[in-house]
This record gives sequence, structure tokens and C-alpha cells, in this order.
Amino acid sequence: MSVCEFKPGLEGIPAAQSSISFVDGQKGILEYRGIRIEELAEKSNFLETAYLLIWGELPTKEELEAFEHEVRYHRRIKYRIRDMMKSFPESGHPMDALQASAAALGLFYSRRDLDNPAYIRAAVVRLLAKIPTMVAAFQLMRKGNDPVRPRDDLDYSANFLYMLSEQEPDPLAARVFDVCLALHAEHSMNASTFSARVTASTLTDPYAVVASAVGTLGGPLHGGANEEVITMLEEIGSVANVRPYLEERIQRKDKIMGFGHRVYKVKDPRAIILQHLAEKLFDKFGYDNYYDIAIEMERVIEEKLGQKGIYSNVDFYSGLVYRKLGIPTDLFTPIFAIARVAGWLAHWKEQLIQNRIYRPTQVYSGLHDIPYIPIEQR
Ligand code: CMC
Repeated sequence: MSVCEFKPGLEGIPAAQSSISFVDGQKGILEYRGIRIEELAEKSNFLETAYLLIWGELPTKEELEAFEHEVRYHRRIKYRIRDMMKSFPESGHPMDALQASAAALGLFYSRRDLDNPAYIRAAVVRLLAKIPTMVAAFQLMRKGNDPVRPRDDLDYSANFLYMLSEQEPDPLAARVFDVCLALHAEHSMNASTFSARVTASTLTDPYAVVASAVGTLGGPLHGGANEEVITMLEEIGSVANVRPYLEERIQRKDKIMGFGHRVYKVKDPRAIILQHLAEKLFDKFGYDNYYDIAIEMERVIEEKLGQKGIYSNVDFYSGLVYRKLGIPTDLFTPIFAIARVAGWLAHWKEQLIQNRIYRPTQVYSGLHDIPYIPIEQR
């Protein structure tokens, strides 16, 4: 490839050398630090998985306990951050609230000491601990309520669900949610991770790194797709309407949300796990129309678009799971962010090891030597 050849979306161009995760889009394989995602979903939990991603290996029992303890201890947010969030418009999108709040952490923890492992660890702990609290706080405050204090006796995911609803969650619901976080924690060089690495490469603070990645995650072609999946299921409304609805959209060349992936040309391995988890939840809490519509959608899309390698992706079933857990639709993407913070931080740390500022080139397609025309002659 000539260095000047432009590839829209940088498709296929390596933007970093990384040992954090591996994706084989043809075989449907995803590994975090060499461990298959299926194994982590079954045997690990989100915080242990985050540790694995960020520090490169599974923690010992003592290391994990110490890490969990630190994260638990740092869950609370400063009252000035709460007060700042209270003044956000309640009609604003929670992703925007999260991006602003994540950036604001940089005001309160302003020291930048990137060569100091203790600083790196403190930033990792703070971000993992406080982002869920900020998401839950905005949810309650936009309804006019005071935020709920985190509960130290609850683990990471159970505490988040508790802070959202003020009720201790069902153990199956908390476990399924925790696996969802682990499944969303990292996915190689996607758009938000690329943002995180570009921002990290300027040696700015980690709060700016996460804030830039949150901004990138919000778009409908990336993390925002899970919200749009629910909108689409609502629009479809019935199993009978699935085929005509999809045929019309495909005819119009509209993208079907929750399907297709730049890398996977088979069903996303995370969608397979999530479908299974969704079924567990539906078994316990009752099946509804949405599940039947989703299954029919997969069938029709496979028939119509399978030959192009378009199958369900992680966002298709995560939307269904979160809806079943009673989570408001516009919190789906912030929840994706809660999980992906682990991956962003792993990439931040990796970027710092042999940092070189990102400064790609461009293919200039404009004109040269154009004379300046005075305004009265234009
Ligand atoms: N529905 C219908 N057609 C599709 C879809 C879709 N969801 N995705 C791709 N195609 C078609 C597309 O129209 C094109 O057809 P043709 O060659 O006839 O013009 C072909 O497949 C290639 O599409 P593309 O847009 O060039 O593929 P891409 O690799 O640039 O796009 C994608 C990947 C994820 C942006 C795209 O599949 C999409 O927009 N999907 C819907 C949004 C979505 O679910 N996003 C979440 C992705 S997974 C989580 C994450 O990474 O955040």
C-alpha cells in the first residue's frame, strides 16, 4: 500500500501495537489478554476482568481483594461534582452529562504524574469507581431526586443497580448485568478506543482521555446503537410486522441497528453470550413480545443480509437485556461506557509505555495558489 493511499475509516490500517485484546472476525473469536471471552463470561466478573485488561494478567486472590476494596472505597463523588451535575438540564442526554462529569474529574484531581505508578493506579481506581456513581446520580437528579449513596456491602454491579433504583437487585439480574459489563469492557481498535489513544498520546490527564472516548462512544454507529435497537423494536411492534419493516428499510438502504460489524463477518461472540443471558432473564422474569420480535429479526436479517456477513452484534441483545432489567433506554450507552472504561484505561496505560503522539497525514484534495479576492469583488 502506498503511504498516500487514503482508506476511509482507516479500515484495515493498524493504529497501534497492542496486547490487550484479539478479535478474529471470520471465526467469531474475542480474547482479552489471550483468554476467550466465553470463559471470562462464565468464570470471572467485571472487576477481575478490568484488572486483567489493565494490568495484563489475572490478579491473585490478595491482589483482587485489594483492588475491589479500593474501588469500593472510592465510589462516592464529591458534593461539588454532584452540585455541578444538578445544574445539568434534565432533558440532556446522559452521555453528555457523563462526558462533562468525567472531564470535570480532571478539575478535582488535577495533578498529572504519568511516570508514577501510584498516580496511574489511583486514576484507574477513581474512574472505575466513580463513573457508575455519576451515571446513577444523573439518572436520579434529572427526575428531581437526590442521588443515592453507594452501598459498601454490595459488589460493583449490584451497587450500580441499587443506586439506579434504590432497591437491592435480584442476584440473577446483578450477575447478568455484571457479565454484560465484562462483555463490553474491551474490543480492540474501535472508534472510542482510538479516540482514547489519540488523546492519551498527548500526555494529557486520564480524565480527558476518558471524556474524549465517552464523546466518541455516543454516536449511533458505535455505542449509541443499543438505544436505537429498542426504538426499532418499538416501531416494529409485532412479529408479523418484522419482515415488511425490515424489507422496507433494506430497500431504502437504511442500516438495521444492532446488526453488522466492521470486523465480525459472523455472529458476534458477545451477541451469542448475551442472547443466552437474555433467555435466562426472560425465563425468570417472563417472556415478552420484544424477545419474539428480536428472534424473528435475526432470522429475516440472516436470510436477507447473511451473504454480506451481516449478523447481530453486541448491541442487539444488550438492549434487550437492559430493557428487561428495567433500565431506561437512554442509559444503555452510558452503561456501555461504564464497562468500556476498563478497555480505555488499558489502552491509556499501554499507550504511555512507548508513547509517540498521533500525527497521521492526509491526502489534500483542495486547490493551490488561489488569489485572494477583495470582499467587494466577490
Ligand atoms: N443493516 C443493513 N445493511 C448493512 C448494515 C446494517 N446494520 N451494516 C452493513 N450493511 C451493509 C451496507 O449497506 C453495505 O452494503 P453495500 O456493500 O451493498 O453498500 C455493506 O453492508 C458494508 O457496510 P459498511 O457500512 O461499509 O460497513 P462498515 O464496516 O463501515 O460498518 C457498522 C460497520 C457497524 C458501522 C455497520 O454495520 C452499521 O452501521 N451497523 C448498525 C449500527 C450498529 O449496530 N452499530 C454497533 C456496532 S457493534 C458495537 C460497537 O462497535 O459500538
